[in-house]
Amino acid sequence: MTLNDVRKKYIDFFASKQHAIIPSSRLVPENDSTTLFTGSGMQPMIAYLLGQKHPEGSRLADSQKCLRVQDIDDIGDNRHTTFFEMLGNWSLGDYFKEQQIPWMFDFLTKELELDPNRIYVTIFAGNDEIGIPKDTESGRIWKNEFQSVGITADIVDDCETNGMQGGRIFSYGEKKNWWSRAGIPENMPVGEPGGPDTEMFWDFGSPLASTRRTGGLNDNELPEPIHAASVYANQPCHVNCDCGRFMEIGNNVFMQYIKTEQGFIELPQRNVDFGGGLERLTAAANDTQDIFTIDIFAPMIAILEKISGKKYADANIQYFRVIIDHIRAVTFLIGDGVVPDKKDQGYFARRLIRRAVRFGRFLEIEKPFLSQLAISVIQSYSNAYSNLLERQEIILSEILKEENKFSKTLRTGLLKFDQIFQNRDDVNGEQAFDLYATYGFPIELIIEEAQRQGKTVDTAGFQKEFDANMKKHQDLSRTASSGKFKGGLADHSDMSVKYHTATHLLHKALKTVLGDHVQQKGSNITPERLRFDFSHPEKMTPEEIKQTENLVNEQIQKDMTVTREEMSVAQAKEKGALGLFEHKYGDTVSIYTMGDFSCEICGGPHVEHTGVLGKFKITKEESASAGVRRIKAVLENLSFRT
Ligand code: ALA
Repeated sequence: MTLNDVRKKYIDFFASKQHAIIPSSRLVPENDSTTLFTGSGMQPMIAYLLGQKHPEGSRLADSQKCLRVQDIDDIGDNRHTTFFEMLGNWSLGDYFKEQQIPWMFDFLTKELELDPNRIYVTIFAGNDEIGIPKDTESGRIWKNEFQSVGITADIVDDCETNGMQGGRIFSYGEKKNWWSRAGIPENMPVGEPGGPDTEMFWDFGSPLASTRRTGGLNDNELPEPIHAASVYANQPCHVNCDCGRFMEIGNNVFMQYIKTEQGFIELPQRNVDFGGGLERLTAAANDTQDIFTIDIFAPMIAILEKISGKKYADANIQYFRVIIDHIRAVTFLIGDGVVPDKKDQGYFARRLIRRAVRFGRFLEIEKPFLSQLAISVIQSYSNAYSNLLERQEIILSEILKEENKFSKTLRTGLLKFDQIFQNRDDVNGEQAFDLYATYGFPIELIIEEAQRQGKTVDTAGFQKEFDANMKKHQDLSRTASSGKFKGGLADHSDMSVKYHTATHLLHKALKTVLGDHVQQKGSNITPERLRFDFSHPEKMTPEEIKQTENLVNEQIQKDMTVTREEMSVAQAKEKGALGLFEHKYGDTVSIYTMGDFSCEICGGPHVEHTGVLGKFKITKEESASAGVRRIKAVLENLSFRT
């Protein structure tokens, strides 16, 4: 049974139950800034689950494109993918458990022809603290369904400690059988809907031969495969354990509660939110424990085998899976309008491509190869998702561009490697880390290259440097995020303070050179540079740029004292202080004055004398948006004063 067959069977099945079939939303949520990607089928449905009328009625079904960034470290095992399709059906205050459970039983056993003897289910055990009882109703309905095909279905409540004990239906607490976007009840914010769920599992009959240790060295490393049986031998096996014998194939959420300040109350309507991973359902229908062996991935595996000359087997399997997963995901992402970039969704697209290139190296692929895989994705999915074909050109060119860019980084890293290690046989932790941090050269490539050249790398030393720097980096970004609210200043290091003072001088200089229409539109400072956005209708001429630079440098050379005063807003205005007066300031404001040149409302901090700034240089003048220009500038280290 192919992936397309399973999708069609599901859609047809629910259409026959009077469900309106709705198209998938984009991977980038619309009107929802709380999350980067659509991670479940219900996300675009929230308003309707809360009671708003859906134009298509109260019974809906679809196959929703989903992306789960948080699963990226699990890619490489037999069942996780970052991108997947979630089959979904919704009752918006229409049917409830009595219909949903028998329908699912029919769909699995009659449409997908899964053997009911190998299907197991779970129900919610209840939670007294939040006043939500055990879901005995679902237990009873499942029992009837299994009985109808001659299977005795006992309910077991302690499988986590005592194993399955011949049961068919298992109760679990809120960690497993409660669903909301925020997870368990305790983590849900007020206003969030959620409810108990009942999940279905497929029994492959035996544990996986190997599993993976979690927690690699860093983003570049895959954990070692280890033998599953040895890890799980002394633990009770149950449907939610990690030995790999069972795989969750669907989840019926009874979305009937909402969290309030006073606790959980019933929503005005009782909803059903079913979600089932299309790839996993297809794997179960084909009884294959490795979801990457379903039909949709076969052409990609064949292409990768051909390019690399290696088989999808043994140690290579994990590399194949990562590459295939990432290229499928990024093809859909670019298909939905994302382009590889420095931040947000674009950053994730970039990360997927770079990881794919890197894992390609482990298969000894040196030439660009990702576009060939993307073409295969587009072809396999073109019937279901026509946008992929329409955007084929841009998908392929963006992937190739990023692939080339990153390959170049890797090449530079190799050159640097050769330079550093020309006359030596060992690489210490600091040097390895420098290669990694400065040139973006992944550690396992450093190790690999060292081995190739018969040199050794101090990996423990690298790890030490890595940990220390991660900590430094985390501390810095914490400072940066708390600093976000302090006038665009990322941190209070000496250089940042200097750039802050230089920003005031630049602001005034621009007003002087270009005219009084110049208004600050934004400012961003790092210890390396300043960035300043301001209103101005056209590109600055080279002369204007020069004049501005000169004017700022004159003020620096005058070595003016920077003074701070507090006064009322009215006084500040009277004094002609620059500031965004349409913004709300407190009753008193602080003013920073530099000689008779600059006077600006500001929270600081600033240097004490302008002479410490060094030489001011504009490095870039460009458009930021319509009618807004952006300047980037640096301070060169030529202090007139220290
Ligand atoms: N919303 C449920 C899930 O994502 C169905 O598992």
